[in-house]
Formats: sequence, C-alpha cells, structure tokens
Amino acid sequence: MVKIAVIGIGGWGKNHVRALSELNALSAICDADTSRAETFANKYDVNSYTSIDEMLKNETFDGVIISTPSSTHFTIAKQLMENGINILVEKPMAPSSTECEQMRIIAKRNNVVLATGYIERFNPVVNEVKNFISEKKYGDVLMLEFHRESRMPVNIHDVGIIYDTSVHDINTALYLFDDKPNMVFARAGSVRGTHEDFAAIILGFKNQKTAFIASNWVTPKKVRQFNVVCTDAIILGDFITQEIKIDQDGNTIIPRREVKEPLMLELKNFIGAVYGNVETLISVDDAINTTRVAEAALLSSKTGSPIYLDLK
Ligand SMILES: NC(=O)c1ccc[n+]([C@@H]2O[C@H](COP(=O)([O-])OP(=O)(O)OC[C@H]3O[C@@H](n4cnc5c(N)ncnc54)[C@H](O)[C@@H]3O)[C@@H](O)[C@H]2O)c1
Repeated sequence: MVKIAVIGIGGWGKNHVRALSELNALSAICDADTSRAETFANKYDVNSYTSIDEMLKNETFDGVIISTPSSTHFTIAKQLMENGINILVEKPMAPSSTECEQMRIIAKRNNVVLATGYIERFNPVVNEVKNFISEKKYGDVLMLEFHRESRMPVNIHDVGIIYDTSVHDINTALYLFDDKPNMVFARAGSVRGTHEDFAAIILGFKNQKTAFIASNWVTPKKVRQFNVVCTDAIILGDFITQEIKIDQDGNTIIPRREVKEPLMLELKNFIGAVYGNVETLISVDDAINTTRVAEAALLSSKTGSPIYLDLK
C-alpha cells in the first residue's frame, strides 16, 4: 500500500489530504496548528503530528507532500530529503533560486524524488492546447496571454503575487513555448498588501515570441484564463472550467468540455515517480527556471528595467 504524508493542512494542503485519502494513499498528517492537525486526523482516520521531527520518528512513508507557506519550503524539504524521503513540494519550489539550486543538490545526493506542485501542467486544458501547438494545427504561436485574477487569498503573508500566483503562468508559458525566456520585464504594485498584489509581466522568447502575464489580487472577480494567439486562430483556454474555444475566421469552435481533477493527476504522477516507473512531469530544472523567472520579474518591477537571462 502506498503511504504518503502531508505537512501543512491549510487552505491548499487539505485538498492534498482529501485527494490522497481518495487514492487510499494517505498515511499521516502534520500541521503546526494543533486543532487543525486533530480535525483532519479525525476526519481521515490517520495519525497526526504538530512536529515534523515527531512524525519522522514515528512513521514510515514512501513520500511526503509539503504544503506549508512558500518561505518554509527549503528548510522542510532539506530535512526530509536528508532523511531519504521523496517529496512533492508545493509551488514555488522555493522563492529563491539559490535555495532551489541547493534543493537540486540535496535531492541528487540522497537519490530522492523532488517534484514541485505546478498543478496547471496537469490541467487537461493545458495539455490539449499544447497538442494543438505541437501539431501546428492553427499555425505558429506568436503570443501567449495569461489572466489570473481574484481577491487576495487571506492566508498568504510571506510572498507576493509573483511568487505565489504568477509562477503558475510563468511555468505554463515555458511549457507551451517549449523554450526559456531571455528577457523579463515587469511592473507591479501594492494596493493592500505589504508585498506586491498586482503584476504585469512580459517574457521575451526567441524570434520575438512573447508571453504576457497579468496577475491581480485586488479585483473581486475570479479569472484564470489564457489566450494562445496563433497565425491562423486564437485559442482561449479556461483553467477553471477546462473549456477551450477556438476563434477563427468569425467562427468559434469548442472542441472539448471534459473535466478532470488536476490534483489527482499530479498526485498519481508523484506516486508513479516514487515507485520509479515514471518521471515527474515537473522536472527540477523546470521548477528552478520558474523561480528564476519570477525572481527576475520581481527585480524588474523594482528597478524598472528589463532583466536579461541565460537559463539552462
Ligand atoms: N498548487 C496550487 O494550486 C496551490 C494553491 C494554493 C496554495 N498552494 C501552495 O501551497 C502552500 C500552502 O498554501 P496555503 O494556502 O495552504 O497556506 P496556509 O497558510 O493556508 O496553510 C499552511 C499550513 O502550514 C502549516 N505550517 C506552517 N509551518 C509549518 C511547519 N513548520 N510544520 C507543520 N505545519 C506548518 C500552517 O499551520 C498552515 O496550516 C504554499 O506553498 C502555496 O503556494 C498551491
């Protein structure tokens, strides 16, 4: 039987717990908040801990999901990997590329799986659009445009919108273009938060291809969409409804409406990787490059200048 534990049962971690329980793979939970740990332990009938050390002393497992605040990812991931434990760390891998690079070394040294929770890559809408792009079904892609907007999440205090939210679209843009940006320019500001709570990011790829990423924690409307502007059509993807629309010559085609839960697909991929029979869909390089681009966007928003990158 697969045994996966979850550390951090907050707004997002509770979804991991529910999905792992449905997969019959949940073995233990840990949250620094005693009442939260107990509530979910009772609900799912598993052991709970408020200390990672205690959990490591008392439990054995095949892997652990880290769903604690982003600023804690490095310390917790390091401790687990140094104990030989496979991990899926939530996005961003860490909000510092130096920490990400160290995580890569630690994972390699300890021969453990290091996956990162870029969940949109498991969203069927992204993979369907990727197929259209690969087949050049609607010509060449000129531009990607992402909109991810909603009121500020009440629980995120440690990072701003770029590390928390724009990273999803940065990661998807690199995947859809199958390339790494050589230029990042961003403007960002803060209406309510101590960190930036809205951002507009431009990623420049070779041959003048461009991704535009708009992220916003201010406006009270939930939008999670992207447009792929191709030479022969515009493809609109909705991350929430998982609907695709293709606008071409005055006609709109809606090719799919099938919905699958990306979190389930992400966890199954992690479990497959833990058992050694599949690669993690989000490679370590992929997650590190996403943090590097986010880091450059934040720097650009502070300096007002484009940042030129040479990503591996
Ligand atoms: N993939 C996605 O779509 C998605 C969506 C939301 C959040 N996230 C990510 O998930 C992570 C958690 O976000 P959230 O919104 O659930 O935050 P949250 O603040 O709601 O929950 C974090 C939980 O971690 C616990 N915690 C903190 N430090 C701990 C420690 N050292 N040991 C044990 N427990 C500890 C807290 O008590 C809290 O319950 C973040 O990295 C965030 O970026 C990912």
